[in-house]
Amino acid sequence: MVEEVLDLKVRFINNDDADKAALLFMYSEVMRKKKTISRFMNRLRKGSGYSTLCLEFGGEIVGMLMYKHSVPNITIVLLHVDHPFRRNGGGTSMVKFLVDAYERFRIKTSISVLVPELNVQAQKFFRSLNFKGVDIKKDKFGPGNDGYGFVYNTEVSDE
Ligand SMILES: CC(C)(COP(=O)(O)OP(=O)(O)OC[C@H]1O[C@@H](n2cnc3c(N)ncnc32)[C@H](O)[C@@H]1OP(=O)(O)O)[C@@H](O)C(=O)NCCC(=O)NCCS
Repeated sequence: MVEEVLDLKVRFINNDDADKAALLFMYSEVMRKKKTISRFMNRLRKGSGYSTLCLEFGGEIVGMLMYKHSVPNITIVLLHVDHPFRRNGGGTSMVKFLVDAYERFRIKTSISVLVPELNVQAQKFFRSLNFKGVDIKKDKFGPGNDGYGFVYNTEVSDE
């Protein structure tokens, strides 16, 4: 059997309407809450303090990673890959793109993310990328659903 490897590409979003519309569509499909949709739109704006990577397949946006950089730390605030494209390395490519961007410029940083206790798949995903569990925020995602804090430290040699 030959396994098909999808040609998924990662890039920063362009600050144009086409990219924003595609991301907004994806976000509203996932979130469905008007309040968070307007907050998301604000975060997509240039100069908002948030940056967004997207995952492309054949010219279509099929995933995104939004993060906030508050020196010296980066926080992943949103990570999503559309269902049909999961388990094809797309989530990994976006996180690695982020790590590489900082390591290339020899900037030492930590990347943190808060994962719901009930989202075991995402925990497995971040562990597969060597993120380490660091703390637990009680009931962060509702009663009985704690937030599991994970952190990855970029490696920049002192040579
Ligand atoms: C979490 C998510 C972004 C992963 O994206 P992805 O493109 O499927 O991830 P990858 O293909 O790069 O997976 C890399 C590794 O992570 C682990 N992993 C990913 N999804 C997994 C799952 N559902 N179950 C178990 N392990 C999983 C595996 O070790 C996988 O390697 P393998 O496929 O060779 O076994 C995607 O499942 C998603 O969008 N989930 C819904 C949103 C979400 O949970 N976001 C995170 C919120 S904090």
